[in-house]
Amino acid sequence: MALRAWAPGRVNLMGDHTDYVGGLVLPMAIGLGVEITGDRGGDWLMLGSERYDGVAEIPLDDVTDPAAVEPPWARYVAAVASELQPNDGLVGMIHSSLPPGTGLGSSAALEIAVATALGADLDDPLAVAEACQRAEHRAVGVPCGIMDQLVAVSAVAGRVLRIDCDSLAIQHVPFPDDGEIVVVDSGEPRELASSAYAQRRSECEAAEQLIGPLRSATPADAETIDDPVLRRRARHVTTENDRVDALAAALAGGQLRYAGELLVASHASLRDDFDVSTAALDDLVVMLRGVPGVFGARVTGAGFGGCVVALCQPKTRLKVPVLWRGRPAAGASVTERAPASPAG
Ligand code: GLA
Repeated sequence: MALRAWAPGRVNLMGDHTDYVGGLVLPMAIGLGVEITGDRGGDWLMLGSERYDGVAEIPLDDVTDPAAVEPPWARYVAAVASELQPNDGLVGMIHSSLPPGTGLGSSAALEIAVATALGADLDDPLAVAEACQRAEHRAVGVPCGIMDQLVAVSAVAGRVLRIDCDSLAIQHVPFPDDGEIVVVDSGEPRELASSAYAQRRSECEAAEQLIGPLRSATPADAETIDDPVLRRRARHVTTENDRVDALAAALAGGQLRYAGELLVASHASLRDDFDVSTAALDDLVVMLRGVPGVFGARVTGAGFGGCVVALCQPKTRLKVPVLWRGRPAAGASVTERAPASPAG
């Protein structure tokens, strides 16, 4: 069975470093992503990559330790196969339009594209996202939350996703007709991302020991913490949760100016309280805010480099290279067709 599977990258508009404490997030899928073309069948998963050397050669009955698979990019592929235990293998090729290391959910897009190509049930997006989140933990040991995988599989064109990462309920919020999202790469690779990410996560857990679950704590609760670092971490998460609902309402109501102010407030919180911004990201946000037609901008995703997201009037002219611009895109999809019958 010849197939083409697609999974998008994502940009997060609000709610960073909130998913792993069961907080709120507001991401959307973008038009860049991972495509897998190939033929299903057999009992091996064999994938080449347009971008990386080597081949992922995974025997479906023997993927006990995905983290030991070579080449390293194939660990994501092996871990997804191990989680899904598909009946049929696949021989194919991976094509990606997502630049790696820019914080646009490229590993989640790869995982969801592999799962989709292997026949995962897209009618059960939560199960697919959870399998791919476990795969990421096993493949590379990054204790990521569920946001990236869930948006890659459940996004709807023209909508942003308000996800409650505790109940995992999703609301699709309409994106205003007179707005546009622009993604700009800072050019700074996110080298620190995995170790510093795990550190932030454990700081949030330490704050929870003091004031209870951050998903339901208030900004006032955060101020009762004596330790200045843990207080700032908790302040970010609790105020960011509030900003998710404020931004969802602002977008649904077409209040683009207020939406932009919320992005700017979130950037300050990620910079000053969560310490995940860099000088390059800060400069980019300041520069973008000065451009007519830009309502607001912030770092997006884990931070420590990567991209800035801006909310603009459509076709706003910027003086920096734009990585992607547009409206919310759709989630994962697959098209299958039977092989053409031999002539004669
Ligand atoms: C990465 C993780 C997500 C989320 C963001 C920060 O993208 O994969 O789960 O935690 O960082 O919001």
